[in-house]
Amino acid sequence: MGLDLKMPDLGNLSERVQSLTCRVALISDDRELADNWVGALNTTAAQHENPFGLSFETVTTDTVERLALDEDELQALIVDAGSDAGGLAAAEALVDRLHALRGQLNVFLVAQGCDISVSVRQRFDELFDRRECNFNQMFRLVQAFIARRASTPFADTLKEYVFSARDAWHTPGHSGGDSLRNSPWVGDFYRFMGEHVFNTDLSVSVQVLDSLLEPHSVIQEAQDLAAQTFGAEHTFFLTNGTSTANKVVIQQILGGGGKIIVDQACHKSVHHAIVLNRCEPVYLKSVLHPEFGIYGPVKRADIEQALDEHGDARLLVITSCTYDGLRYDLKPIIDYAHERGVKVLVDEAWYAHGYFHPQLRPTALECGADYVTQSTHKMLSAFSQASMIHVQDPDFDDHRFRENLNMHASTSPQYAMIASLDVARKQVAMEGYARLNQCLKMVETLRKAVDDTGVFRALTRDDLIAEPLADDNIRLDPTKVTIDISASGYSGGEMQIKLFEQYGIQVEKTTYNTVSVLVTLGSTESKLLRLIHAFKQLARSARKRLHVPSPRRLPEFTRLTCLPADAYFAETEELPLMDNGTLAEKNLIGRISADEIVPYPPGIPVLVPGQEISAQIVQYLQQLLQGQNATEIHGLIFRSDEPLLRVVRENGPSSSAPKKSPKASRKNGS
Ligand SMILES: Cc1ncc(COP(=O)(O)O)c(C=O)c1O
Repeated sequence: MGLDLKMPDLGNLSERVQSLTCRVALISDDRELADNWVGALNTTAAQHENPFGLSFETVTTDTVERLALDEDELQALIVDAGSDAGGLAAAEALVDRLHALRGQLNVFLVAQGCDISVSVRQRFDELFDRRECNFNQMFRLVQAFIARRASTPFADTLKEYVFSARDAWHTPGHSGGDSLRNSPWVGDFYRFMGEHVFNTDLSVSVQVLDSLLEPHSVIQEAQDLAAQTFGAEHTFFLTNGTSTANKVVIQQILGGGGKIIVDQACHKSVHHAIVLNRCEPVYLKSVLHPEFGIYGPVKRADIEQALDEHGDARLLVITSCTYDGLRYDLKPIIDYAHERGVKVLVDEAWYAHGYFHPQLRPTALECGADYVTQSTHKMLSAFSQASMIHVQDPDFDDHRFRENLNMHASTSPQYAMIASLDVARKQVAMEGYARLNQCLKMVETLRKAVDDTGVFRALTRDDLIAEPLADDNIRLDPTKVTIDISASGYSGGEMQIKLFEQYGIQVEKTTYNTVSVLVTLGSTESKLLRLIHAFKQLARSARKRLHVPSPRRLPEFTRLTCLPADAYFAETEELPLMDNGTLAEKNLIGRISADEIVPYPPGIPVLVPGQEISAQIVQYLQQLLQGQNATEIHGLIFRSDEPLLRVVRENGPSSSAPKKSPKASRKNGS
């Protein structure tokens, strides 16, 4: 069974765009009002332009939560507080419960009298008086709120601009693709990519498209909508990925230096920011799962201890969820940090979808994080590199933030990427719940089918939580499915190749005994069918494993001898990592690494700049380089194929080797 299967006739199934339906529920226990209003609103809807397909229905207070969960097409609620004194408080409580289920629904309050508190008012988009009889106006208001949520101010302007077909006498040099279109040499690239890749690629000189670096119009509007959609005070778009987002936030809090508490297994952009900003890191140690070789979260007690011991720390950075979908119970950790005056950045690169389904909440913003960085492109429908920073820091300095962001951002942003952020935002705002519902159903089907093979096993939350994390209330993002393949007799790497070469399936990642797939908004029933089929087939060809490797534990952290920046920018020399005897090891032991050395997988640094090199570290790297599967190791230098480590020069005449910094610290280090 390979890729040479005869493809079935797809007919015209490929382009199916459904018409819109927006259900609006009027929640009222007053039968008469409900029937009158719903009847009148549906009549109005039928008589007026209704592009979103609004239709109104009644629902009672005791069934509305079920409706919110069951009806994907529900887009708005009109809550009748009745005329009793307790009605407003009940409406307030109800809308909180409904928002916990579906944060994106528009909600309107029907009340009588003027005694509506600010706290009640701010929960509702708009108010209607119970004696209202202008149903046209009411219909238009509901429609206008839905229309605003469904709007894409930047993407629309970009489209309009392209269709207005202005002459380009500006960058980029391909000038809307004109430089390529008729070329006998490169015209094929134009045709392959499609015209809109080129004609949406415009210069910052096009003023109607606003400025990403100083937004005032359509980009600002799109960002405001994103803030509302994701539940932030402010949202900023980035076209350089969460790698840049992390650097911007760290510079915001620690520009010029200061103490930062970070998981050592955090993304390398955080380590880079530590060097760039001359920060003093306190490293936390994430917990390795002994059976599957997966690095998970840090123990909560370790985070709290670091916060207690480093009262001068200014920022805590944690990754939630991890690449494998493990999520912290964030609220108590963020509260603990805030009580000690420490700001919190949560790297949600892998969790941009979290706010749009109750099973995935609460998000970092809901738990009180000051800054949240998200790769919108990883789990949602934005183009690669399109990311967002969400802010709810009560001490937010917007001028400084703008400067920090501009220091890292390109002055020539890709407009298609910005438009894709706008559209990805609209998608989750309008159909995030429905699409994630489908994803979660697919996850269930996939997990069951995998388990039914009797060979492969979809790992549960309990399987993935290593013992030291047992009491930390760690959760699992179900959309990341990790499959134990040990019983198949193949390694993760071998299974990855089989899936790709025999079934045309590219998985997200592997460890020596697991394969992980991501179920995203773009996963389809057909892809699921093929994946399940592949696992069923592969289960039949399971073999006895000759050699069962144990998970590779990263070497213990040694110690940080100086600020990472001091080592990185010091006078250095390059020392060989490999030789036939032990000379390389002897020469390297005790020396200070100037670079960050990161083997992939698992993508966690075994050395950071400023860290002392141990025999264990040298041997680990040597084993990786000698291993059968060539591991990618970032940070090594190769000269004539010889791997070298850059270390801080010792005692040389021009040495500016860093002095031991008493401040540089390491928690949990050996
Ligand atoms: C935890 C984490 N943070 C940040 C990033 C960087 O994200 P981006 O690819 O959007 O730059 C990644 C990338 O894989 C990541 O895994």
